[in-house]
Amino acid sequence: MMIRPTTIAALVALITLTSAFQTPSNTRIISTTTLFSTPPERTTDQPPKPPLSTLVKRVAVAGATGRTGKLVVQQLLSQNVPVLALVRDTDKAMSAFDPTNELLTIRKTDLGSKDDVITAIQEGEGVDCAMWCATGFSDAPDQSIWDKVSAIFGFATNSQGSIDAVGLPALGEALAKSPKRTLANGSDKSAPLPKVVMLSSAGVTRPDWTDEKKSALEGCAGIPIVRLNPFGILGVKKQSEEELRNCGTEYTIFRPGGLNDKWPKNSRPIFSQGDVAVGRINREDVATILVDLLSTPEATGKTFEGVSIANSDGYYPPAESLSVALDRLILDKDGVSEDVARATYAIMQQLLPGEKQAAAELAMGQTYEQLDKEEIGRLGARGTEEAPIVKTA
Ligand SMILES: NC(=O)c1ccc[n+]([C@@H]2O[C@H](COP(=O)([O-])OP(=O)(O)OC[C@H]3O[C@@H](n4cnc5c(N)ncnc54)[C@H](OP(=O)(O)O)[C@@H]3O)[C@@H](O)[C@H]2O)c1
Repeated sequence: MMIRPTTIAALVALITLTSAFQTPSNTRIISTTTLFSTPPERTTDQPPKPPLSTLVKRVAVAGATGRTGKLVVQQLLSQNVPVLALVRDTDKAMSAFDPTNELLTIRKTDLGSKDDVITAIQEGEGVDCAMWCATGFSDAPDQSIWDKVSAIFGFATNSQGSIDAVGLPALGEALAKSPKRTLANGSDKSAPLPKVVMLSSAGVTRPDWTDEKKSALEGCAGIPIVRLNPFGILGVKKQSEEELRNCGTEYTIFRPGGLNDKWPKNSRPIFSQGDVAVGRINREDVATILVDLLSTPEATGKTFEGVSIANSDGYYPPAESLSVALDRLILDKDGVSEDVARATYAIMQQLLPGEKQAAAELAMGQTYEQLDKEEIGRLGARGTEEAPIVKTA
């Protein structure tokens, strides 16, 4: 199935989709302005995608023992795809996976060392693509602060020893000269497949927004992780993304919203651009998306956010393929205009969990449901959360 790419059309499709079905009662109505017009033309001439195991020789997974990385490795192995797991703790990897699985190679790798990462890929017997699921810092001055930040935010880093800023571009550099990956199934798509897929985060650009934009898009700029931005983590991730874009290899950057293992899985992902997505997504769905991206040429050269809406009562199952949704998105080299970002914001805010729809009122550690019920979150009231001191990158 082919779709002509325009993000404005994608927004139209989202609106049309939400209003076209006969909806259950008590349903959220999504509304927008009349900025948008013609939906994209569809054709049905796309051949089916071959199995991933025929498109990939071996995938290097950085951060393979992490909560999302582990799910990525499991999904790859279940699709008979050989994996090179790049880990800092081989014992942890041996207990997380079946070390007798012949498709799996575990390699101790210092992700904060460019040489170590490049050597791991070069010696990785056929590695032709990589997934970045790691985050962290290699020179943590105080491990207890690291643990605390990790527990609160799900990740942590600092500008000095960020493994993201070193290991991720090293993966890109190591794969830049390897042969192009394509679907090679008779598809007329000219875009190559990504060689490096980065698991980034929604919100990485927001600390750098102008005051005017922060105020206009407060539901994005005022969420706790952006407001507190511990150790300048968002800026470090933004910089790491930029290094990947500039390293000369085909890439895809996926920025999920809040990773939440209690959020329903097998949910419909909603992809958007402009860094205006706020919401939740289950790590299992993130892993499924990341693995799918390896065989989705429509994702190459693009950065996009993703949250999900629950597939309750059989409504909103995930689409059969990511291709249609991602084909509509804009290439990084073309840029997302302010108008598109602001219009996307107007829609995405309506997909927020809960009823209050006031993400900027959340305290760190407080759920949307707690906000609705006026209950305090696990880290205390807004403004008094036990969050670490904010340092700018
Ligand atoms: N939490 C959220 O709501 C959220 C939202 C959006 C995006 N994200 C992003 O999603 C990604 C994955 O999140 P997650 O929850 O799966 O992360 P996670 O469970 O904390 O996993 C992080 C991985 O990085 C590895 N790592 C940390 N420091 C390292 C170092 N110095 N050297 C080598 N490896 C190191 C960890 O190794 P060990 O297994 O040995 O500890 C682990 O495998 C992160 O990049 C995060 O920024 C998170």
